[in-house]
Amino acid sequence: MTDRNAIRQWARQQRRALSPQAQAEAAKAVARQAMALPDVRQANSLALYLANDGELDPALLMDSLWQAGKQVLLPVLHPFTPGHLLFLRHRPGSPMVANRFGIPEPPLDIRQLVTLDSVDLVFTPLVAFDDAGHRLGMGGGFYDRTLANYQGPVVGLAHDQQQHPALPAMAWDKPLGLIVTPGQIKRFRT
Ligand SMILES: Nc1ncnc2c1ncn2[C@@H]1O[C@H](COP(=O)(O)OP(=O)(O)O)[C@@H](O)[C@H]1O
Ligand SMILES: [Mg+2]
Repeated sequence: MTDRNAIRQWARQQRRALSPQAQAEAAKAVARQAMALPDVRQANSLALYLANDGELDPALLMDSLWQAGKQVLLPVLHPFTPGHLLFLRHRPGSPMVANRFGIPEPPLDIRQLVTLDSVDLVFTPLVAFDDAGHRLGMGGGFYDRTLANYQGPVVGLAHDQQQHPALPAMAWDKPLGLIVTPGQIKRFRT
C-alpha cells in the first residue's frame, strides 16, 4: 500500500505541474485521438468524467461526442451501495450538484439512469498507468468495484507524464482495455 500511495503522490504531482497551456493541448490531442478510435465510433452510450486535480480534461471530447449524436454518461456515487458508481445521462447544460467529496455530479434521477449492460464504453480518469494496462486510481476503488464484471472497453485517459514503469497491481484492480494519451494510443485487451 505504501508503494501505491507513494506512486499516487508522484503521479498527482506530475499532472498538477502541467501548465494550463500544456493541459489544453493535451485535452485537444486526446479528444482527437479518442474520436478516431473504432471502439468510440461504434459506441452509442459512453461514460465520461469531469476533470479534477489536474486530470486529463475530457470536456472537448464530451463536446465532440455530443456533436456526433452520442449519449454521454457521468458517474454518480451509488446512494445505497458504498464504493460503487451509477452512470447517469448528461446533456449540454444539465444541472450539476456537489457530491459529498465536493465533486460535481448529475443530480440523482432514476429516469436518467443507464445500467451497465447498456453502457458501450467507459472512459476512466486515473492517477497512474503502465505499459501493461494496469490502472492506479485515487485509492477509493470505485471503478474497480463498479466495473468488476463489465465486459465492454475500459479506456483510460491520461497525460504521458502519468506513465509509471511497472505498477504494483492488486487482484481487484480492473485492467484497462486501452489507454489514450496525447502521445500514444495503446490497446491491451479486447
Ligand atoms: N471489486 C472489489 N470488491 C471489493 N473491494 C474492492 C474491489 N475493488 C477494490 N476494492 C477495495 O477498494 C480499495 C481501494 O482500491 P484501490 O485499487 O487501491 O483503489 P484505486 O483503484 O482507486 O487506486 C481497496 O482496499 C480494495 O480492497
Ligand atoms: Mg484499483
